[in-house]
Amino acid sequence: MSKVPVIAIDGPSGAGKGAVAQALAEKLNYHLLDSGAVYRAAGLHAMENGADLTDEASVVASLESMRATFIPHADGVKVYLAGIDVTGKLRSEATAEAASQVAVMARVRAALLDEQRSFRTQPGLIADGRDMGSVVFPDACVKVYLSASAEVRAARRAKQLKEKGMEVTISSLMKDISARDERDCSREHSPLVASQDALQIDSSSMSIEEVVEQILLAVAKTGSISVACS
Ligand code: C5P
Repeated sequence: MSKVPVIAIDGPSGAGKGAVAQALAEKLNYHLLDSGAVYRAAGLHAMENGADLTDEASVVASLESMRATFIPHADGVKVYLAGIDVTGKLRSEATAEAASQVAVMARVRAALLDEQRSFRTQPGLIADGRDMGSVVFPDACVKVYLSASAEVRAARRAKQLKEKGMEVTISSLMKDISARDERDCSREHSPLVASQDALQIDSSSMSIEEVVEQILLAVAKTGSISVACS
């Protein structure tokens, strides 16, 4: 088993995982895996290559030609498909929907496992997603399940999208987020669940800094930063 420490942060869309993961990665000088971006890249690539998003074999076949690069950046991660910057496209609701559709497919999830695990390099990794603690890095030193009410999550998402110049309404976002939550939680393979050993945090009325502080306290208790976990 690898000795590189991993802090896994799972939870639904809009719970604040991205901002928390980014802040933790900066504080600890760790690498960052935005696994949602990996699924979004897969969904976007499949869509752009004319795959049938309801057909597993068609999506898996399209992934064979996917050449994705993830470059850390001050605002998160920059994503390139075959050398073309698709970071902006990746954030659209259409791509989120495609990601959520392909994410229910077992063979797609299996095909993306190595890509995600390759981010685990010294001195450590902050992994943000839905199944980081349960499937991808079950030996993570610290597992966090970050949630927030659906209203708060939709409002946060609307703010993020508006800042990127995209026009959205809270009510349509609530509908989209609920549909994706439902699909993420009820799918057969790697559903979104809080691992029994996860620290559960409801960020509805907390700032990013408060959440980060709480996670760092949990990390300090395990002693997993100075001594890599085994
Ligand atoms: O986190 P983000 O909203 O970018 O993720 C987009 C979609 O990718 C999610 O709705 C989910 O269906 C899927 N996903 C997943 N497993 C992960 C990360 C994301 O199934 N570890």
